[in-house]
Amino acid sequence: MKKILILNGPNLNMLGKREPEIYGTHTLKDIEILCHNKSRELNFEIDFKQSNHEGQIIDLIQMSMDKYDALIINAAAFTHTSIAIHDALKLLDFPIIEVHLSNPKKREEFRHFSYIESIAETVISGEGANGYLLALEKLQKLLQ
Ligand code: DQA
Repeated sequence: MKKILILNGPNLNMLGKREPEIYGTHTLKDIEILCHNKSRELNFEIDFKQSNHEGQIIDLIQMSMDKYDALIINAAAFTHTSIAIHDALKLLDFPIIEVHLSNPKKREEFRHFSYIESIAETVISGEGANGYLLALEKLQKLLQ
C-alpha cells in the first residue's frame, strides 16, 4: 500500500474560523477526515500533519525521505518565503503536489511567487478543501 504524507503549514489549524470567505468553512479536521475517506477509496495510507513552525516542517520533510511514496504540501505563507523548505523538498525523490485552498496568484502580489512550484509535480489551487482530494487522485495516476 502506498504511503502519503499530507503536510500543512502555519495558520491552517485555524481553518473554519480563519477568513472563511477566502478559505471556506471546513476545519482542518474536516479536511483530514475527507482525505482519510478518499485514501481508503484509493487504497492509500496517509499521515496528515500540521505545524506553525518552519523548522518543524523541515524536520517532517527530512523524516519523510524513507517513509513515504509521495507528499502533498500546503506550506501556507511559507510557500512565498521559505528557501529552507524549498531546499528540504529537493531532498525528496518522490512526487510532490502543492495544494492551496485559495488561488494565491489571484490575490495580493506577495502571494504570487511560490518557492515550491518549481519542485512540485503539479500545483492545485483555488479548489478549496476539494484540492486535497484532487491531489490524492492525481497521485493515484502518478504512482501506478
Ligand atoms: C494558502 C495561501 C497562502 O498564500 C496563505 O498564506 C495561506 C493559505 C491557501 O491554502 O490558500 O496560509 O496556502
